Amino acid sequence: MDKTFLMVKPDGVQRNLIGEIISRFELKGYTLVGAKLIQLTEETARSHYEEHEGKAFFHSLVEFITSGPVFAMVWQGEGIITEARKMMGKTNPTDSSPGTIRGDFGVNVSRNIIHGSDSPESAQREIKLYFTEDELVSYEKEI
Ligand code: CMP
Repeated sequence: MDKTFLMVKPDGVQRNLIGEIISRFELKGYTLVGAKLIQLTEETARSHYEEHEGKAFFHSLVEFITSGPVFAMVWQGEGIITEARKMMGKTNPTDSSPGTIRGDFGVNVSRNIIHGSDSPESAQREIKLYFTEDELVSYEKEI
């Protein structure tokens, strides 16, 4: 089954959006298989965003993502990587449609509430960066 890595960023945690975000993915029918509230180190943040190293916003991105706790999650479901990106909305909340997480709650590209893996390769890499195998559960829903 497909898995993706989703993370409520420090702005989402501070604005009490963890419950709202979990609820959207639960109501959609996806399965939460791992979750934790953590404070990122600079090393993990730089590793997570390594593809953006060298860009003008890289330093502020690392500074922001380490500025407070984040809520890291692994979700499971058919086609979840692309579907979660649709539910999140565009990277820049001003381009995101109402009904998406960023469209409903975000105002700024650097404070855009949530991160989600953009490909199967990213999902695999990001899940490994944040979770050990024994921090993830494996189960089938019965209802
Ligand atoms: P995210 O999906 O976490 O992946 C990379 C992040 O970089 C992105 O969300 C934005 O928060 C951030 N980002 C992308 N473009 C810019 C930009 N032009 N200025 C500031 N931050 C940006």
